[in-house]
Amino acid sequence: MAVQQIKDRIFSVGSRDWDRRLFDELIPLPDGTSYNSYLIRGSEKTALIDTVDPPKTKELISNLKKLNITKIDYLVSNHAEQDHSGSIPDLLEIYPEARVIANEKCRLFLMDLMEIPETRFQTVSDGDVLSLGDKNLKFIFTPWVHWPETMCTFLPEDKILFSCDFFGSHLATSDLFVRNPAKVIEDAKRYYAEIMMPFRGVVKKNIEKIEALDFEMIAPSHGPVYSDSKIILDAYRNWVSDKVENQVVIAYVSMHGSTEKMMFYLMERIMEKGISVKFFNLIKTDLGQLAMSLVDSATLILGTPTVLTGPHPAAVYAATLVNVLKPKLKFATVVGSYGWGGRTLEMIQNSLSNLKAEFLDPVLIKGYPKAADYGLLDKLVDTIATKHQETI
Ligand SMILES: Cc1cc2nc3c(=O)[nH]c(=O)nc-3n(C[C@H](O)[C@H](O)[C@H](O)COP(=O)(O)O)c2cc1C
Ligand SMILES: [Fe+2]
Ligand SMILES: [Fe+2]
Repeated sequence: MAVQQIKDRIFSVGSRDWDRRLFDELIPLPDGTSYNSYLIRGSEKTALIDTVDPPKTKELISNLKKLNITKIDYLVSNHAEQDHSGSIPDLLEIYPEARVIANEKCRLFLMDLMEIPETRFQTVSDGDVLSLGDKNLKFIFTPWVHWPETMCTFLPEDKILFSCDFFGSHLATSDLFVRNPAKVIEDAKRYYAEIMMPFRGVVKKNIEKIEALDFEMIAPSHGPVYSDSKIILDAYRNWVSDKVENQVVIAYVSMHGSTEKMMFYLMERIMEKGISVKFFNLIKTDLGQLAMSLVDSATLILGTPTVLTGPHPAAVYAATLVNVLKPKLKFATVVGSYGWGGRTLEMIQNSLSNLKAEFLDPVLIKGYPKAADYGLLDKLVDTIATKHQETI
């Protein structure tokens, strides 16, 4: 990756992962991702903010060479996770004077994960300022976006907030700054859905905390830099709010088509009510799309046949994912087909126990759906329409 200049003596020196296709071995990355690292040269000291994923370390080192960086005083670690701390051990060897700037929790993680010796650290507290001469770094603790130790680094002289994972997007692009806001916000939503949504309450508090700072740009450690931070702040404010869209997520699996028949029927009936539908066949879908649709939808319908006495494993997997992502759904239910009996309903309800959503009457029918079954589905659609009218 090329070295790109953000402002006077501030450079982006990280790496694009153009063809990475899975994050956390869980969420698909159609647009790849990036690990951003930022070099700041003050009049007296030089600091590097965050590093890159271990396999990309050579690229970071070569970028630093391009800038003829012979001395780094501070390696600021906003977050201990390996995609940002991965090059610290190598950099400590190349730059023997460098000290790792981290908060106490981050120091413990880094010693544990990266085997960095205690003697190389300088720990900082919330609100501490580190002088680089004519530029200063102020550390703002923003815990749980998305680990307990996460912090942001604020550079007041240039009005830049280095936010690490917070406000990041999974997008590999040659653009240093956001050029296509709609695309970046979509990839930031994919990022938010997996990483931030489970901590919605605390994300909200951290947004309020950083709003007190006078910054113009947000430079995250994934995806392009926001020269106008308003677009991502507005998106985040919307995602963390309690407001949901007039939208139903239908996610299903079906072996012989009975459950699927009901899902298509529900989709059409719900659309006729003027409600948006996001429709996912769990066997074919990009789970990132499912997670993104859960960021602001009001209702989830999970469709599954009964298989070997319980829900289909694909539905169990999806339910587990929904449960840990803790979306702000207001309503949820199960619809499916069975042959003779089982514990499908109970098992799905148990796996969705984290949700605060009201559980609507499920529709579990025997075999292929018949006239009476469609009556039950109509009733469910009417209930959803009424509930949405009352709450959205
Ligand atoms: C491998 C397999 C295991 C099944 N196990 C059960 C079961 O334990 N209990 C049950 O009620 N039905 C069981 N069934 C029957 C299905 O639930 C039934 O065929 C249902 O209508 C399938 O819905 P679908 O067409 O949406 O796949 C099983 C079917 C298959 C193929
Ligand atoms: Fe992270
Ligand atoms: Fe990250």
